[in-house]
Amino acid sequence: MNILITGASGLIGSHLGPFLQDQGHRVWKLKRGAPAPGSPSWDPVAGAIDLEPAGALDAVIHLAGENVAQPWKRAVRKRIRESRVNSTRLLAEKLAHLPRKPKVLICASATGFYGNRGDELLDEQSLPGHGFLPEICREWEGAAEAAEDVGIRVVYLRFGIVLSPKGGALKRMLPIFKWGLGGKLGNGHYYWSWIALEDVLGVVVHVLANDSLSGPINTVTPFPVTNAEFTRALAKAVKRPAFLAVPPFVLEVLLGQMADEVLLCSFRVMPARLIQSGFHFKYPSLNSAFSRLLNES
Ligand SMILES: NC(=O)c1ccc[n+]([C@@H]2O[C@H](COP(=O)([O-])OP(=O)(O)OC[C@H]3O[C@@H](n4cnc5c(N)ncnc54)[C@H](OP(=O)(O)O)[C@@H]3O)[C@@H](O)[C@H]2O)c1
Repeated sequence: MNILITGASGLIGSHLGPFLQDQGHRVWKLKRGAPAPGSPSWDPVAGAIDLEPAGALDAVIHLAGENVAQPWKRAVRKRIRESRVNSTRLLAEKLAHLPRKPKVLICASATGFYGNRGDELLDEQSLPGHGFLPEICREWEGAAEAAEDVGIRVVYLRFGIVLSPKGGALKRMLPIFKWGLGGKLGNGHYYWSWIALEDVLGVVVHVLANDSLSGPINTVTPFPVTNAEFTRALAKAVKRPAFLAVPPFVLEVLLGQMADEVLLCSFRVMPARLIQSGFHFKYPSLNSAFSRLLNES
Protein backbone atom coordinates (compact mmCIF):
# COMPACT_ATOMS: atom_id res chain seq x y z
CA MET A 1 0.00 0.00 0.00
CA ASN A 2 1.02 3.60 -0.54
CA ILE A 3 0.55 5.16 2.93
CA LEU A 4 0.89 8.72 4.22
CA ILE A 5 1.44 9.43 7.94
CA THR A 6 1.07 12.79 9.67
CA GLY A 7 2.73 13.33 13.07
CA ALA A 8 5.23 10.71 11.91
CA SER A 9 7.97 12.07 14.16
CA GLY A 10 5.94 11.44 17.35
CA LEU A 11 5.93 8.43 19.68
CA ILE A 12 3.48 6.36 17.63
CA GLY A 13 4.41 7.63 14.17
CA SER A 14 8.16 7.13 14.58
CA HIS A 15 7.54 3.43 15.30
CA LEU A 16 4.62 2.95 12.93
CA GLY A 17 6.46 4.23 9.83
CA PRO A 18 9.35 1.72 9.97
CA PHE A 19 6.94 -1.05 11.06
CA LEU A 20 4.77 -0.56 7.97
CA GLN A 21 7.85 -0.27 5.74
CA ASP A 22 9.09 -3.61 7.08
CA GLN A 23 5.76 -5.09 5.99
CA GLY A 24 6.43 -3.92 2.44
CA HIS A 25 4.36 -0.72 2.37
CA ARG A 26 5.56 2.56 0.85
CA VAL A 27 5.41 5.17 3.65
CA TRP A 28 5.37 8.94 3.22
CA LYS A 29 5.74 11.33 6.16
CA LEU A 30 3.70 14.50 6.09
CA LYS A 31 5.76 16.83 8.27
CA ARG A 32 5.52 20.48 9.11
CA GLY A 33 8.40 22.78 8.17
CA ALA A 34 10.48 22.99 5.02
CA PRO A 35 9.84 19.86 2.91
CA ALA A 36 12.65 17.64 1.66
CA PRO A 37 12.78 17.72 -2.16
CA GLY A 38 10.20 15.35 -3.63
CA SER A 39 8.28 15.00 -0.34
CA PRO A 40 4.71 15.97 0.49
CA SER A 41 4.38 18.91 2.87
CA TRP A 42 1.87 20.88 4.89
CA ASP A 43 1.46 23.85 7.12
CA PRO A 44 -1.75 23.29 9.06
CA VAL A 45 -1.62 26.79 10.59
CA ALA A 46 -1.48 28.44 7.16
CA GLY A 47 -3.97 25.90 5.71
CA ALA A 48 -1.45 24.76 3.06
CA ILE A 49 -0.98 21.14 1.97
CA ASP A 50 0.78 19.48 -0.98
CA LEU A 51 0.27 15.73 -1.35
CA GLU A 52 1.25 15.49 -5.00
CA PRO A 53 4.75 14.03 -4.47
CA ALA A 54 3.17 11.02 -2.67
CA GLY A 55 1.15 10.02 -5.77
CA ALA A 56 -2.03 7.95 -5.45
CA LEU A 57 -2.50 7.08 -1.79
CA ASP A 58 -4.18 3.94 -0.51
CA ALA A 59 -4.29 4.94 3.17
CA VAL A 60 -3.66 7.99 5.33
CA ILE A 61 -2.86 7.79 9.05
CA HIS A 62 -3.32 11.11 10.82
CA LEU A 63 -1.53 11.31 14.17
CA ALA A 64 -0.48 14.97 14.33
CA GLY A 65 -1.43 17.11 17.31
CA GLU A 66 0.10 19.38 19.92
CA ASN A 67 1.18 17.42 23.01
CA VAL A 68 -1.58 17.35 25.64
CA ALA A 69 0.73 16.51 28.57
CA GLN A 70 1.62 20.08 29.52
CA PRO A 71 -0.15 22.75 31.59
CA TRP A 72 -3.13 24.00 29.59
CA LYS A 73 -2.41 27.71 29.44
CA ARG A 74 -4.65 29.68 27.10
CA ALA A 75 -2.18 29.55 24.17
CA VAL A 76 -1.60 25.83 24.71
CA ARG A 77 -5.35 25.08 24.69
CA LYS A 78 -5.61 26.94 21.41
CA ARG A 79 -2.77 24.89 19.92
CA ILE A 80 -4.17 21.61 21.29
CA ARG A 81 -7.52 22.34 19.64
CA GLU A 82 -6.36 23.89 16.37
CA SER A 83 -3.55 21.42 15.73
CA ARG A 84 -6.17 18.65 15.77
CA VAL A 85 -9.38 20.16 14.47
CA ASN A 86 -7.93 22.44 11.77
CA SER A 87 -5.33 19.91 10.57
CA THR A 88 -7.94 17.14 10.35
CA ARG A 89 -10.32 19.38 8.41
CA LEU A 90 -7.53 20.50 6.05
CA LEU A 91 -6.42 16.91 5.43
CA ALA A 92 -9.94 15.49 5.03
CA GLU A 93 -10.94 18.21 2.57
CA LYS A 94 -7.77 17.69 0.55
CA LEU A 95 -8.33 13.92 0.41
CA ALA A 96 -11.98 14.42 -0.55
CA HIS A 97 -10.92 16.43 -3.61
CA LEU A 98 -8.20 14.10 -4.86
CA PRO A 99 -8.95 12.54 -8.25
CA ARG A 100 -7.96 9.14 -6.78
CA LYS A 101 -9.01 9.08 -3.15
CA PRO A 102 -7.46 6.83 -0.51
CA LYS A 103 -9.63 3.94 0.65
CA VAL A 104 -9.11 4.66 4.32
CA LEU A 105 -8.29 7.56 6.63
CA ILE A 106 -7.24 6.52 10.14
CA CYS A 107 -7.36 9.44 12.58
CA ALA A 108 -5.99 9.54 16.10
CA SER A 109 -8.45 10.37 18.85
CA ALA A 110 -8.36 9.64 22.57
CA THR A 111 -10.26 7.95 25.39
CA GLY A 112 -10.44 11.52 26.71
CA PHE A 113 -13.63 11.54 24.57
CA TYR A 114 -15.48 9.88 27.47
CA GLY A 115 -14.46 12.32 30.22
CA ASN A 116 -14.25 11.44 33.91
CA ARG A 117 -16.63 8.47 34.39
CA GLY A 118 -15.59 6.73 37.62
CA ASP A 119 -16.16 2.95 37.52
CA GLU A 120 -18.58 3.01 34.55
CA LEU A 121 -17.61 0.51 31.83
CA LEU A 122 -17.33 2.46 28.59
CA ASP A 123 -17.40 1.21 25.01
CA GLU A 124 -17.77 2.86 21.62
CA GLN A 125 -21.56 3.23 22.18
CA SER A 126 -21.00 5.35 25.29
CA LEU A 127 -21.82 9.03 25.09
CA PRO A 128 -19.07 11.65 25.26
CA GLY A 129 -18.22 13.21 28.61
CA HIS A 130 -17.92 16.84 29.67
CA GLY A 131 -14.82 19.03 29.79
CA PHE A 132 -12.06 20.35 27.56
CA LEU A 133 -10.80 16.97 26.31
CA PRO A 134 -14.20 15.45 25.46
CA GLU A 135 -15.04 18.65 23.60
CA ILE A 136 -11.77 18.55 21.65
CA CYS A 137 -12.18 14.85 20.82
CA ARG A 138 -15.72 15.41 19.52
CA GLU A 139 -14.58 18.29 17.31
CA TRP A 140 -11.47 16.39 16.23
CA GLU A 141 -13.49 13.38 15.07
CA GLY A 142 -16.13 15.63 13.49
CA ALA A 143 -13.49 17.44 11.45
CA ALA A 144 -12.96 14.44 9.13
CA GLU A 145 -16.54 14.73 7.83
CA ALA A 146 -15.47 15.83 4.34
CA ALA A 147 -13.66 12.52 3.83
CA GLU A 148 -16.64 10.48 5.11
CA ASP A 149 -18.98 12.42 2.82
CA VAL A 150 -17.14 11.22 -0.30
CA GLY A 151 -17.10 7.59 0.84
CA ILE A 152 -13.59 7.32 2.29
CA ARG A 153 -13.62 4.80 5.16
CA VAL A 154 -12.76 6.89 8.23
CA VAL A 155 -11.63 5.27 11.49
CA TYR A 156 -11.02 7.10 14.77
CA LEU A 157 -8.58 5.33 17.03
CA ARG A 158 -9.46 6.43 20.55
CA PHE A 159 -6.09 5.80 22.16
CA GLY A 160 -5.72 5.18 25.87
CA ILE A 161 -2.31 5.73 27.47
CA VAL A 162 0.19 4.31 24.97
CA LEU A 163 2.93 2.55 26.91
CA SER A 164 6.51 2.59 25.70
CA PRO A 165 9.76 3.19 27.57
CA LYS A 166 10.81 5.31 24.57
CA GLY A 167 8.25 8.07 24.98
CA GLY A 168 4.98 9.31 26.41
CA ALA A 169 3.74 8.76 29.96
CA LEU A 170 5.81 5.66 30.82
CA LYS A 171 9.10 7.28 29.80
CA ARG A 172 8.33 10.20 32.13
CA MET A 173 7.34 7.91 35.01
CA LEU A 174 10.18 5.39 34.76
CA PRO A 175 13.03 7.40 36.32
CA ILE A 176 10.82 8.42 39.25
CA PHE A 177 9.87 4.79 39.91
CA LYS A 178 13.47 3.62 39.46
CA TRP A 179 14.52 6.08 42.20
CA GLY A 180 11.87 4.54 44.46
CA LEU A 181 9.90 7.80 44.42
CA GLY A 182 6.89 6.47 42.52
CA GLY A 183 3.48 6.60 44.14
CA LYS A 184 -0.22 6.52 43.45
CA LEU A 185 -2.01 9.74 42.60
CA GLY A 186 -4.40 10.76 45.34
CA ASN A 187 -6.49 7.76 46.43
CA GLY A 188 -5.39 5.84 43.30
CA HIS A 189 -8.98 4.82 42.47
CA TYR A 190 -8.99 6.38 39.01
CA TYR A 191 -9.15 3.88 36.13
CA TRP A 192 -6.43 4.20 33.52
CA SER A 193 -7.01 2.61 30.12
CA TRP A 194 -3.77 1.76 28.40
CA ILE A 195 -2.20 -0.18 25.52
CA ALA A 196 1.36 -1.24 24.70
CA LEU A 197 2.85 0.59 21.71
CA GLU A 198 3.45 -2.72 19.92
CA ASP A 199 -0.28 -3.49 20.14
CA VAL A 200 -1.05 -0.04 18.70
CA LEU A 201 0.99 -0.99 15.62
CA GLY A 202 -1.00 -4.23 15.42
CA VAL A 203 -4.29 -2.34 15.67
CA VAL A 204 -3.32 -0.10 12.75
CA VAL A 205 -2.53 -3.16 10.57
CA HIS A 206 -5.81 -4.80 11.71
CA VAL A 207 -7.79 -1.68 10.74
CA LEU A 208 -6.01 -1.34 7.38
CA ALA A 209 -6.89 -4.95 6.57
CA ASN A 210 -10.54 -4.92 7.75
CA ASP A 211 -12.70 -2.96 5.33
CA SER A 212 -15.72 -3.44 7.58
CA LEU A 213 -14.21 -1.28 10.35
CA SER A 214 -15.10 2.38 10.39
CA GLY A 215 -15.97 4.97 13.03
CA PRO A 216 -14.58 4.97 16.57
CA ILE A 217 -12.39 2.15 17.85
CA ASN A 218 -11.26 2.15 21.47
CA THR A 219 -7.55 1.43 21.22
CA VAL A 220 -6.92 0.07 24.70
CA THR A 221 -6.47 -3.39 26.21
CA PRO A 222 -9.46 -5.21 27.71
CA PHE A 223 -7.91 -4.79 31.18
CA PRO A 224 -7.98 -1.19 32.39
CA VAL A 225 -6.42 -0.83 35.84
CA THR A 226 -6.74 1.67 38.64
CA ASN A 227 -3.90 4.11 39.19
CA ALA A 228 -3.06 2.23 42.41
CA GLU A 229 -2.81 -1.08 40.49
CA PHE A 230 -0.72 0.59 37.80
CA THR A 231 1.59 2.02 40.47
CA ARG A 232 2.01 -1.36 42.18
CA ALA A 233 2.70 -3.17 38.88
CA LEU A 234 5.28 -0.61 37.73
CA ALA A 235 7.04 -0.56 41.12
CA LYS A 236 7.16 -4.37 41.09
CA ALA A 237 8.52 -4.38 37.53
CA VAL A 238 11.40 -2.03 38.44
CA LYS A 239 11.84 -3.79 41.82
CA ARG A 240 11.41 -0.65 43.89
CA PRO A 241 8.93 0.32 46.59
CA ALA A 242 6.17 2.82 45.84
CA PHE A 243 4.78 3.83 49.22
CA LEU A 244 4.21 7.48 48.43
CA ALA A 245 0.89 9.03 47.48
CA VAL A 246 0.92 12.29 45.57
CA PRO A 247 -1.80 14.60 46.93
CA PRO A 248 -4.14 15.74 44.13
CA PHE A 249 -3.70 19.43 45.04
CA VAL A 250 0.03 19.20 44.25
CA LEU A 251 -0.76 18.02 40.72
CA GLU A 252 -3.51 20.61 40.41
CA VAL A 253 -1.15 23.42 41.46
CA LEU A 254 1.58 22.23 39.10
CA LEU A 255 -0.53 21.22 36.12
CA GLY A 256 -3.92 22.89 36.57
CA GLN A 257 -6.91 21.46 34.69
CA MET A 258 -4.67 19.02 32.79
CA ALA A 259 -4.20 17.13 36.08
CA ASP A 260 -7.97 16.87 36.62
CA GLU A 261 -8.80 15.81 33.06
CA VAL A 262 -5.88 13.46 32.41
CA LEU A 263 -4.03 12.24 35.52
CA LEU A 264 -6.86 12.29 38.08
CA CYS A 265 -9.53 11.28 35.62
CA SER A 266 -11.15 7.84 35.55
CA PHE A 267 -11.56 6.17 32.14
CA ARG A 268 -12.61 2.52 32.32
CA VAL A 269 -12.72 1.87 28.61
CA MET A 270 -13.25 -1.47 26.85
CA PRO A 271 -12.06 -2.25 23.30
CA ALA A 272 -15.43 -3.73 22.32
CA ARG A 273 -14.99 -3.31 18.57
CA LEU A 274 -11.44 -4.68 18.53
CA ILE A 275 -12.62 -7.76 20.41
CA GLN A 276 -15.67 -8.22 18.13
CA SER A 277 -13.46 -7.97 15.04
CA GLY A 278 -11.05 -10.62 16.32
CA PHE A 279 -8.04 -8.48 17.24
CA HIS A 280 -5.45 -10.40 19.24
CA PHE A 281 -3.58 -8.37 21.90
CA LYS A 282 0.05 -9.38 22.40
CA TYR A 283 0.13 -7.65 25.78
CA PRO A 284 -3.36 -7.71 27.29
CA SER A 285 -2.23 -7.53 30.92
CA LEU A 286 -0.09 -4.85 32.52
CA ASN A 287 2.36 -7.39 33.93
CA SER A 288 2.95 -8.93 30.47
CA ALA A 289 3.39 -5.44 29.00
CA PHE A 290 5.82 -4.27 31.67
CA SER A 291 7.96 -7.39 31.54
CA ARG A 292 8.32 -6.93 27.74
CA LEU A 293 8.63 -3.13 27.71
CA LEU A 294 11.08 -2.80 30.57
CA ASN A 295 13.37 -5.42 29.07
CA GLU A 296 13.74 -3.26 25.97
CA SER A 297 14.37 0.05 27.84
N1 LIG B 1 0.68 8.58 23.18
C1 LIG B 1 -0.45 8.49 23.89
O1 LIG B 1 -0.46 7.96 25.03
C2 LIG B 1 -1.73 9.02 23.31
C3 LIG B 1 -2.93 8.85 24.05
C4 LIG B 1 -4.12 9.36 23.53
C5 LIG B 1 -4.12 10.01 22.30
N2 LIG B 1 -2.94 10.17 21.62
C6 LIG B 1 -2.98 10.92 20.35
O2 LIG B 1 -2.42 10.18 19.28
C7 LIG B 1 -1.67 11.04 18.41
C8 LIG B 1 -0.25 10.50 18.28
O3 LIG B 1 0.29 10.33 19.58
P1 LIG B 1 1.86 10.45 19.86
O4 LIG B 1 2.06 10.04 21.28
O5 LIG B 1 2.64 9.82 18.77
O6 LIG B 1 2.03 12.04 19.79
P2 LIG B 1 3.37 12.91 19.90
O7 LIG B 1 4.54 12.06 20.23
O8 LIG B 1 3.06 14.07 20.79
O9 LIG B 1 3.58 13.40 18.40
C9 LIG B 1 2.60 14.10 17.71
C10 LIG B 1 3.18 14.67 16.41
O10 LIG B 1 2.27 15.68 16.00
C11 LIG B 1 2.98 16.73 15.36
N3 LIG B 1 2.69 17.98 16.09
C12 LIG B 1 3.12 18.37 17.31
N4 LIG B 1 2.65 19.60 17.62
C13 LIG B 1 1.88 19.97 16.56
C14 LIG B 1 1.15 21.14 16.25
N5 LIG B 1 1.08 22.18 17.11
N6 LIG B 1 0.50 21.18 15.05
C15 LIG B 1 0.54 20.14 14.18
N7 LIG B 1 1.26 19.02 14.39
C16 LIG B 1 1.91 18.95 15.58
C17 LIG B 1 4.47 16.42 15.45
O11 LIG B 1 4.87 15.84 14.22
P3 LIG B 1 5.66 16.69 13.06
O12 LIG B 1 6.60 17.58 13.79
O13 LIG B 1 6.31 15.62 12.28
O14 LIG B 1 4.62 17.44 12.32
C18 LIG B 1 4.52 15.37 16.57
O15 LIG B 1 5.58 14.49 16.39
C19 LIG B 1 -1.72 12.44 19.03
O16 LIG B 1 -2.67 13.20 18.37
C20 LIG B 1 -2.12 12.17 20.47
O17 LIG B 1 -2.88 13.23 21.06
C21 LIG B 1 -1.76 9.68 22.08
